[in-house]
Amino acid sequence: MAKIIVTGGLGFIGSHTVVELLAAGHEPVIVDNLSNSSAAVLEGIEKITGQKPLFLQLDLKQKNQVTRLFEQVPDPDGLIHFAAYKAVGESTEKPLEYYENNLGTLVYLLQALRDRGLSNLIFSSSCTVYGQAEKLPITEESPVVPAESPYGNTKQIGEEIIQDACHAHALQGISLRYFNPIGAHPSAEIGELPLGVPLNLVPFVTQTGIGLREQLSVFGTDYPTRDGTAIRDYIHVVDLAKAHVIAVERLVAGENQQAYEYYNLGTGTGSTVLEVIQAFEKVAGKPLNYKTVARRPGDVTAAYADTTKANQILGWTAQKTMEDALTDAWRWEQKLARARAAQAE
Ligand code: WQD
Repeated sequence: MAKIIVTGGLGFIGSHTVVELLAAGHEPVIVDNLSNSSAAVLEGIEKITGQKPLFLQLDLKQKNQVTRLFEQVPDPDGLIHFAAYKAVGESTEKPLEYYENNLGTLVYLLQALRDRGLSNLIFSSSCTVYGQAEKLPITEESPVVPAESPYGNTKQIGEEIIQDACHAHALQGISLRYFNPIGAHPSAEIGELPLGVPLNLVPFVTQTGIGLREQLSVFGTDYPTRDGTAIRDYIHVVDLAKAHVIAVERLVAGENQQAYEYYNLGTGTGSTVLEVIQAFEKVAGKPLNYKTVARRPGDVTAAYADTTKANQILGWTAQKTMEDALTDAWRWEQKLARARAAQAE
């Protein structure tokens, strides 16, 4: 049993990771400033696990609140750091807020761990660090290319900060480079809660399916792919959450081979946008209203993971399929619609 601080623990991936930490017998402590999440997520976690982890509402971009965190939790065995702004487009409009929040917070957390003789940080990174990789599938040795957005840059710089800190101090860290997280918990008690118009494909698909959005726009049909639409590696959020438990257990047990390690987390399979739509239509049992439009600036043609390193070293492999993820995402969307209807009565 390990006590693990989970920053951004009420967010999409954070909340699913808290559930898996509890299932594995650990003691997660949730830290969240609720800037992009809701305290109601705690109830969902409790309904799934029967446990209500400690929740500290703190804003970790303020150094004194990082201090307060470690005053309240002086002895964590590890820390999983999800808390960050993550909207690619927004980051180009507000780069300084992204650097302040995503990197300032990371430095404060690393200083706090170092100064207390603590260690074991898991960092939420992204396949966005690879840009459009020359070779597919993408391995961890694929070159990290200049970021296309300040958001992507905060992931690249974040990894470098952790690497330098682990080499200079008695800190251990693992960066997990997510491909495209989708889906929801099968219980439909927690899931993705995009604020406003969803930027990502799957929440836009399910909101269109439920009637919240009029029509999905497919960004680009002229890519050099099997059907002209872009390819991504869509990984179920529960598979992703389980990988975080394995990674933090690796550091707590001191099984890491280097002070700083990094792993791709994907399924190893690429799917086109049209294939996602077709899979959703099968799951929902009805056609999806969509149109095709021009490419979205900054999008890459194709990105999917070579998962060998995580499979062989972490002993982790994604178990759930695209259909599982879309089934769970659709069930969650329908649950949200029922909750909205009940509120409107
Ligand atoms: C997937 C595909 C779009 C919306 C981003 C970030 C990445 C990570 C995941 C945070 C693309 C197409 C999308 C729509 C569409 N974010 N699409 N219509 O861009 O691969 O990755 O989200 O950690 O860092 O870069 O994900 O879901 O936005 O797009 O056609 O309404 O769906 O063009 O081909 P992306 P996405």
